[in-house]
Order: sequence, then structure tokens, then C-alpha cells
Amino acid sequence: MSTELLLVARILHVIAGVSWLGEVVTINFVLLPALFKARGDDRLVLLSTVFPYVFRLATALGGIAVASGLALFLWYTRLDPLAALRSHWGWYILIGGTLGALLFAFHLFQESGAERSVAAHLAFVLDSDDTGQVQALLKHLALFPRLGMLVLIAVIILMISAAHFA
Ligand code: HEM
Repeated sequence: MSTELLLVARILHVIAGVSWLGEVVTINFVLLPALFKARGDDRLVLLSTVFPYVFRLATALGGIAVASGLALFLWYTRLDPLAALRSHWGWYILIGGTLGALLFAFHLFQESGAERSVAAHLAFVLDSDDTGQVQALLKHLALFPRLGMLVLIAVIILMISAAHFA
């Protein structure tokens, strides 16, 4: 990788990673409160129209962050990932990178299914108009972005520590 390519990969990596956190913050502090407040059919419309776009954006941002992170990591360790175990830099990147990659895998394999099943359940309980059950389902849906936000903050702290303090 030439120096220019390395710069492009780093810029892509930082923008994608930080945007992913920004998206999760927006989900937690804008979209979920709106979903909690919405009534009846509005809630279903929000869940079935807005949330699929949100999900796809997270797939794109998380995918770019993980792929470019892996490329940077292999470049810096000269294709010898085990060399990372010999430095603080390497440990920070390995722990942060593993957390980020696990979150992305979780997003791909679990989150889409959970969202769909919550939407289906919501459609079902809305018929019975049981608000307690609806709130419980929405709380369940809110758990993933809350945990995701904490994990992404930890990843970014680890990556900045690696880049500037290790
Ligand atoms: C998935 C979520 C991720 C986020 C949010 C993220 C975030 C960041 C940020 C903000 C930086 C820039 C640090 C700075 O220059 O101050 C960085 C650097 C870096 N990241 Fe990630 N990252 C993620 C995943 C990964 C993965 C999966 C790897 C692969 C192991 C990785 C490897 C790297 C490397 C090698 C650097 C450069 C460190 C240096 O310049 O010394 N990242 N990351």
C-alpha cells in the first residue's frame, strides 16, 4: 500500500467508524424516543419504513470500518498479525478491533432478525391494544442500540489510545 492509499484507508476508516457511532447515537436519542412516543399505526409505519434504512446504513458504515481497519492492521503489522501481541499498540488494536468486528457480526446476524420479529410482534399486540406489552417489546428493541453505543465508544477510545498514546 502506498502512502496515499494508506491515507485514504485511514480517512475512510475514521469517517466510517465515527459515523457509525453517530448513527447509533441518533437511534438512541432521536429515533427510539420518537418510536416510544408514536401511537398505533404511526409506530408501525416508523418501524417498517425508517428502520430498514437505518439498518442498511449501519451495515455499510460498520462494513467499511471493519474492512478498512483490517487492511490498516495488516499493513501496519506487515502481514504478521501475531507481531501485534508484542506491543501495547497491538493489544489496543486487537481488543478494539475484535470488539468492533464482533459488534458488526452481531449486527448482521442478530439485529435484523430481532427488528423483524419485534415489528411482527408489535403488529400482533397492536390489535389487542395492550400498551404494557407494546412498551416491553419496544424496550427489548432499544437494548441493542444502547449496548452498541457503549461498545463503539470503547472501541474508539482503544483506537485513539493505540494511535496516540501507545
Ligand atoms: C468497528 C468499529 C471501529 C471503529 C469505530 C474504529 C475507530 C477508529 C478510529 C477513530 C481510529 C483513529 C484513531 C486516531 O487516529 O486517533 C482508528 C484507527 C485504527 N483502527 Fe479502528 N475502528 C474500528 C474497527 C477496527 C478494526 C476491526 C480494526 C482491525 C483490527 C481496526 C484497526 C485500526 C488501525 C490499525 C488503526 C490505526 C491506528 C494507528 O494509526 O496507529 N479498527 N480506528
